[in-house]
Amino acid sequence: MKISALQFQPKLQDKLWNLSTLQDMLEGLDTDLVVLPELAISGYVYATKQQLYPLAEEAGKGEAFVAMQKLSQVYNFSIVYGFPEISGEILYNSSALINPDGSYFIYRKIHLFNREKLLFSGGDKPFAVFPAKNDVMIGMMICFDWQFPEAARSLALSGAQIICHPSNLVLPWCQQAMQLRCLENRVFSITANRTGYEENGELSETFTGCSQILNTKGEVLIRMDSIAKGIETVIIDPGIAKDKQITERNDAFCDRRPAMYRGIT
Ligand code: ACM
Repeated sequence: MKISALQFQPKLQDKLWNLSTLQDMLEGLDTDLVVLPELAISGYVYATKQQLYPLAEEAGKGEAFVAMQKLSQVYNFSIVYGFPEISGEILYNSSALINPDGSYFIYRKIHLFNREKLLFSGGDKPFAVFPAKNDVMIGMMICFDWQFPEAARSLALSGAQIICHPSNLVLPWCQQAMQLRCLENRVFSITANRTGYEENGELSETFTGCSQILNTKGEVLIRMDSIAKGIETVIIDPGIAKDKQITERNDAFCDRRPAMYRGIT
């Protein structure tokens, strides 16, 4: 199976530019699964909800969704991308998985980062696992979810073989932390990060790039640099993620002793 990470610098408040850039980048891509950054269609540094509303889309509707669904169908890949989701008046920082057969699944970011708490509501549905192309089971988490080992653990215990991780990273630790998330859960991960500096009045952020694809031992299969724009693809056997055996007598999941753990729930 071919899996890919896309890295680029979106433009704040310019959905049309972001969509046409992504369409150009994805045209003809030979892969089975591609992951795009968090809020890839909108940019990140918003001062108010009012600025975000015009860019937000309802799940399964809207310009970006239609464009991504078409790309998925035409080029026969599953795609995961981040977008501001609107549901009634409520904004979520969400990602969508869209499959070539048209099916789609939504994840609403559970652990909001810093000023995101002023803009978005925290995800209201537990971590879940969904089928991508060829019935490979994938879990979605978004950016700062990396800080919470329970996120990747929940996805892995639910059967995720690949963790898709759209990101807009600003702290320097995620890329290394994800190596542990993969190792302790024996899953693959695709962290698709954005690059660049973004400013909105008094507010600004610099994003770290270095998108990466990791294997079930936490080894780096691909890591881009901090400014590159592009798509990197590797071939993996997702079946390896079903094997949790560490030694003859150790299994990463069967050896867990939940009754001995404290303060986790
Ligand atoms: C982040 O969660 N976008 C830092």
